[in-house]
Amino acid sequence: MVENKEKQDRHFPVFAQDNLLRRLLSNSKKFNPYVTDGQVVADLGCGPGYFTLPLAECVGPRGRVYAIDSNEKAIRALEKKANKHGYSNIEAYASSASDLSFIKDGSVDFVLANGLLCSMAPQHHESTVNEIKRVLKPEGQAYIAVDRGRFSYVGESEWERILEGFRIERRGDPKMGDRWAVVSIKP
Ligand SMILES: C[S@@+](CC[C@H](N)C(=O)[O-])C[C@H]1O[C@@H](n2cnc3c(N)ncnc32)[C@H](O)[C@@H]1O
Repeated sequence: MVENKEKQDRHFPVFAQDNLLRRLLSNSKKFNPYVTDGQVVADLGCGPGYFTLPLAECVGPRGRVYAIDSNEKAIRALEKKANKHGYSNIEAYASSASDLSFIKDGSVDFVLANGLLCSMAPQHHESTVNEIKRVLKPEGQAYIAVDRGRFSYVGESEWERILEGFRIERRGDPKMGDRWAVVSIKP
């Protein structure tokens, strides 16, 4: 029998991604300074929307937030919160961030991929990074962060290779093991 070794996306319980403790320890508005009224955002691997809703608040009714996660339960939880709080500017998709064909080329001001690639099956990393480049406006920015450690699907060399494909505007200190960066597309 041939074993199928293809890795799967990692999904997490919804309550682990948005709860009181997280709200006490981590600022859900951390990414708001990257956007302004009327802008378009893509939150890739958005989970139940910990950062999505504050971003939607920030871009306002003239803006739009695409929220994408391959975990259907997370998307349903996000939609419930968005309805409860009356957000009409969030378009949520229970699908893989490796195919963003519902987003036009060069139309997004800010891409958030916080903890996405380290949780996503490795065979989809390349297409996802290509999709980020495709949807970003020439002057747009992306915040990409991945976890380290044995459960991460992104190793040190892959992280550096991903960053090489972008213009790096700011990044965490590699000596400290920080794996986050603010990037834009190369001219
Ligand atoms: C570490 S969590 C981060 C969630 C959110 N970005 C945050 O910071 O609260 C990673 C998320 O990526 C999602 N994910 C994993 N593979 C994915 C894929 N192929 N496409 C879209 N989302 C994916 C998981 O379901 C999970 O919600």
